[in-house]
Amino acid sequence: MSIDTTALNRTMTHFDRHHSLWLFGYGSLIWKADFPFIERRPAWITGWARRFWQGSHDHRGTPEAPGRVATLVRESGAICHGMAYRIAPATLAQLDAREKNGYLRERVPVYFTATEHDEGLIYLATADNAAFLGAAPLAVMAAQIAGAHGPSGSNRDYLLNLAEALAQQGAADEHVSALAALLQPA
Ligand code: BEZ
Repeated sequence: MSIDTTALNRTMTHFDRHHSLWLFGYGSLIWKADFPFIERRPAWITGWARRFWQGSHDHRGTPEAPGRVATLVRESGAICHGMAYRIAPATLAQLDAREKNGYLRERVPVYFTATEHDEGLIYLATADNAAFLGAAPLAVMAAQIAGAHGPSGSNRDYLLNLAEALAQQGAADEHVSALAALLQPA
């Protein structure tokens, strides 16, 4: 089952009157920027850990056989590396539609260097959304990812593209690397 979060996200009007805002991508947004943006910069956020705990019924799986995609969970001291995009507020409508299966807008500080940060936004899927799957042993998650396919392609490609993009940024993520290692060789 899935709940469309588009309408709920429209009620988050914080950035509506801004000229631009930073969107922090930690999943497919890192390597699949199919939306207009003004500039992009490698960045990180703190206190959040990336986890393959969100079910995907609409992109990398189906309602009958959901895939597993990234969300963030609060973890004291954690650092999550990703890519920040400076976008116009109007672009959020397109992103709300793309991430409608349980992801809600959330404001976070986004860090670019040790001395430079700005307010930004993430799309977050929390444990109370209908598509949330939560934790499972790594081997179980890897097996689910290996077998899932959806309208946006295979769940395997999603994971391996993310692992590759993070490696190119020099941004190690143990959770992603461990899952990717279990999927290799293809
Ligand atoms: C991300 O890359 O940040 C992202 C992608 C899809 C849904 C939510 C977040």
